[in-house]
Amino acid sequence: MLSLNILKVLNRITLDFKNEGLASPRLDAEVLLANYLKTDRSGLYTKFERLITDEELNGILSWVERRQKGESVAYIVGKKEFWSLIFQVNSTVLVPRPETELLVEEVLKTCLGLDDRDISILEVGTGSGAISVAIASELKRIRVVATDVSAEVIKLAGKNAENNGVADKISFLCGSLFEPVSGKFDIIVSNPPYISEEEFDRLPLEVRDFEPKEALIAGPEGTEFHYNLIVEGSRYLKFGGWLCMEMGAGQKAVVESMFRENKTYDNVSFRADYAGIDRVVMAQKAVSSEQ
Ligand SMILES: C[S@@+](CC[C@H](N)C(=O)[O-])C[C@H]1O[C@@H](n2cnc3c(N)ncnc32)[C@H](O)[C@@H]1O
Repeated sequence: MLSLNILKVLNRITLDFKNEGLASPRLDAEVLLANYLKTDRSGLYTKFERLITDEELNGILSWVERRQKGESVAYIVGKKEFWSLIFQVNSTVLVPRPETELLVEEVLKTCLGLDDRDISILEVGTGSGAISVAIASELKRIRVVATDVSAEVIKLAGKNAENNGVADKISFLCGSLFEPVSGKFDIIVSNPPYISEEEFDRLPLEVRDFEPKEALIAGPEGTEFHYNLIVEGSRYLKFGGWLCMEMGAGQKAVVESMFRENKTYDNVSFRADYAGIDRVVMAQKAVSSEQ
């Protein structure tokens, strides 16, 4: 076989991805090639002339094929950056999304407003652990309990906490919603599944065929988890504590009315993402509520 160097392989993969209609052909090609060669993207640029062996080429092409079949770059390379931290990911967990960083930002802002004491946070549906690990990486005096319904997911989240040096601040528990949880918290945070059954069929192939369904679908309206978190969550919040959730496009009115009907929350507010979609909802447990 002809000897190919990094630049030629990179250009070829980019062109193939472009012809396939991928949204970011050059970036995908660079990330795949850099990870396969155990370097980073800038490492490729300083070694353009380095020859690729036949064995490396076969391995790289098998990754390229997976990408062409729709699998995301994060699953292929087995990791994803979130909050400038690296998280291992595999097909059991959702790939953490950039918009979820807004939820982390809102939780951190809320923490600033709490008294100077150890803050307790509960995350429901932790997945890769991205939210809990990011929060724990920013705050010294904090105790986080993070749950997920899947034992496999909890194992990976624990590994991510360890790899990012915050394992001593987070307890991971396996179980559905609040089932494994006891006590009351200052903040409950969740990026719950929020895709409606009908919407699921219209998701991009990359999401629909590769990400875990149980991380995505939430009943006919996509707001089943929000409802449960609002109704049950109140029992696990201290008076004046906050419930912070991510949500999907078009869900603001439904979620707002759930809070209104519940009557145990005050100060409901929303934050839009950079595309203008209301993405985060926050509400405070009323000091006068009975629960
Ligand atoms: C949208 S993903 C969010 C994952 C992660 N927190 C993130 O933001 O990247 C939702 C998570 O909720 C978990 N989940 C689904 N049903 C659940 C339930 N009944 N109780 C607890 N967690 C659940 C899924 O396994 C998945 O990890």
